[in-house]
Amino acid sequence: MKTFLYPEDLGPFDKALQEAQEIKKNHYAYESLGHHRTALLIFFNNSLRTRLSTQKAAMNLGMNVIVLDVNQGAWKLETERGVIMDGDKSEHLLEAVPVMGCYADVIGVRTFARFESREDDYSEKILRQFIEHSGRPVFSMESATVHPLQAFADLITIDEYRKKRRPKVVMTWAPHPRALPQAVPNSFAQWMNRADVDFVVTHPHGYELDPQFVGNARVEYDQMKALEGADFVYAKNWSCPGVTRPEDYGKVISRDMSWTVDAAHMAVTNNAYFMHCLPVRRGMIVTDDVIEAPTSLVIPEAANREISATVVLKHMLESL
Ligand code: CP
Repeated sequence: MKTFLYPEDLGPFDKALQEAQEIKKNHYAYESLGHHRTALLIFFNNSLRTRLSTQKAAMNLGMNVIVLDVNQGAWKLETERGVIMDGDKSEHLLEAVPVMGCYADVIGVRTFARFESREDDYSEKILRQFIEHSGRPVFSMESATVHPLQAFADLITIDEYRKKRRPKVVMTWAPHPRALPQAVPNSFAQWMNRADVDFVVTHPHGYELDPQFVGNARVEYDQMKALEGADFVYAKNWSCPGVTRPEDYGKVISRDMSWTVDAAHMAVTNNAYFMHCLPVRRGMIVTDDVIEAPTSLVIPEAANREISATVVLKHMLESL
């Protein structure tokens, strides 16, 4: 595996899920695979889960790990070509990326959407520069449009907790005070579309996800109707993807608190499990009682981030 952005990069889900369970039984099953190999994890944005779980995964595989917070201690990076660098940016990404590649065998990158240009974000402009110029396998640790390590962990979690062969999985938009990227809902939709589940997406008008990710998933604008009979409720906020109104890209266009997942929402489900990738804002996305209920999977979901990252790094090491 030379890049990891999309579900097809991982190969068949049934095989990947088997590997996940093998690693879950013994996190160190492949502890020699990464001997004398280095994982470089580059963060342009904050992280708790991705930072810790990916480091842990690399250590499970016997790798050395270097973590770089670009905005704390590195030179400030220019990302545009053709600019006169007379401002506060001391180094260009086009030199920095191949230099980073000199010190690593695999590179993970976290770089959020900037919301300055939909075209730049949806072409994964920053991540693509790492793929093209680092000379190393590169995986997204949440980039402008996707968060595949999270989606794979979500798939593992649903597979572990499903009570029927084809559960109903509902991804619901929920309110948030700030504009958040579409990476998590994009990837979740993309991965669920390939999984053996009955997948429904619900959100207010204007929050339609990009067709390349939502595909043929059922979209229901009545949240309560969408949640009826759900086996899994996956809550997430995202800002306007700009599909119907490009001028609204990256904006908060609804603060409708009736979409907050509370006990009344969960009451119409099939005693559904509640899921969220975290971090989550209580009282906005979900109420305390729902996230603290025995049916909340937010902690097992986070724990599976170590498993998904271990499987992905294993695939990358095997391709070196
Ligand atoms: N879910 C997730 O990616 O969490 P972090 O932003 O803390 O890494």
